Amino acid sequence: MNANLPNYLDQAESVKNRFTKLKQREVILEVKHLGKVYKSAKGEVAALQDINFKTHRREFVCVIGPSGCGKSTLIRILAGLEPHTTGEVLLDDKPVTGPGRDRGMVFQGYTLFPWLTVKKNVMFGLEMNNASTGEAAREASLWLELVGLDKFANAYPHELSGGMKQRVAIARALVNKPRILLMDEPFGALDAQSRAKMQAHLLEIWRNVDITILFITHDLDEAIFLADRILVLKAHPGEVQELIEVSVPRPRIAGNYTSPEFLATKARLEALIHPPKPVGEQEKEEVSITQHMIRFVNVEDNVE
Ligand SMILES: Nc1ncnc2c1ncn2[C@@H]1O[C@H](COP(=O)(O)OP(=O)(O)OP(=O)(O)O)[C@@H](O)[C@H]1O
Ligand SMILES: [Mg+2]
Repeated sequence: MNANLPNYLDQAESVKNRFTKLKQREVILEVKHLGKVYKSAKGEVAALQDINFKTHRREFVCVIGPSGCGKSTLIRILAGLEPHTTGEVLLDDKPVTGPGRDRGMVFQGYTLFPWLTVKKNVMFGLEMNNASTGEAAREASLWLELVGLDKFANAYPHELSGGMKQRVAIARALVNKPRILLMDEPFGALDAQSRAKMQAHLLEIWRNVDITILFITHDLDEAIFLADRILVLKAHPGEVQELIEVSVPRPRIAGNYTSPEFLATKARLEALIHPPKPVGEQEKEEVSITQHMIRFVNVEDNVE
């Protein structure tokens, strides 16, 4: 680690003020002692254990952690798609007991209806909730303009790029005016260039809309670029390791991943997610590889 980096906890005055104001805003989401145990024929899996955090209005929270630490489980519980085992989830102080229009979801896989046009995809949720076709069309047009896809209103999903499909998915989620947008690796399937564009685009949308965002990602740069705070989970069972306040000032500059604050935050995340192995364990691994190779060589020899 570079010794010249600032401490990741150090905040410039403007950043400190931002966090003070942010924490004064109302709490939209509160997760209290949340636990989840999956039960199956093979036994029990403790996916989440004693998760606690709050998200304030218009806050952007990213969740990172190793594969299998329970990120998708967490977001599915928040969405009301998965029951939890212990604790509670409060949205606007009310317990979450099932899916609801107060939560918008965007997943990694493209979930648009292929037989509907872009505009009809966005109108779908509104029409299901008894909005008139005229009203739904007006709302859909507004949101498509906001995500920059008004010219593609009459296109079908298969005519769009991956990034454009995710923009439609964002419009479709926001058209219902949810209190929180829940995003599970939404840009995970995009190439690096489209992904960077979508990150900048999402921040632009967030700046213009009264929306709180909880965003899951594997990508440390993505988390630091987007988030106010980053919830770091560890695996088996999924527990909160740390809730980091990102000290990088806003507005953030796309592609600028080398500022001292950025690098300091990244170094901290790396240390939490990929901690160096104790010396004893490294040795064990090397020994087992060597033994495996010897066996492999012996097998080859036997063939001769
Ligand atoms: N329906 C299920 N039944 C049983 N176990 C499950 C189920 N869904 C997830 N799990 C287990 O719960 C744990 C958390 O899974 P989850 O999918 O939430 O992790 P994740 O952090 O989203 O992983 P990834 O980064 O790979 O997407 C894993 O051990 C997984 O095997
Ligand atoms: Mg997942």
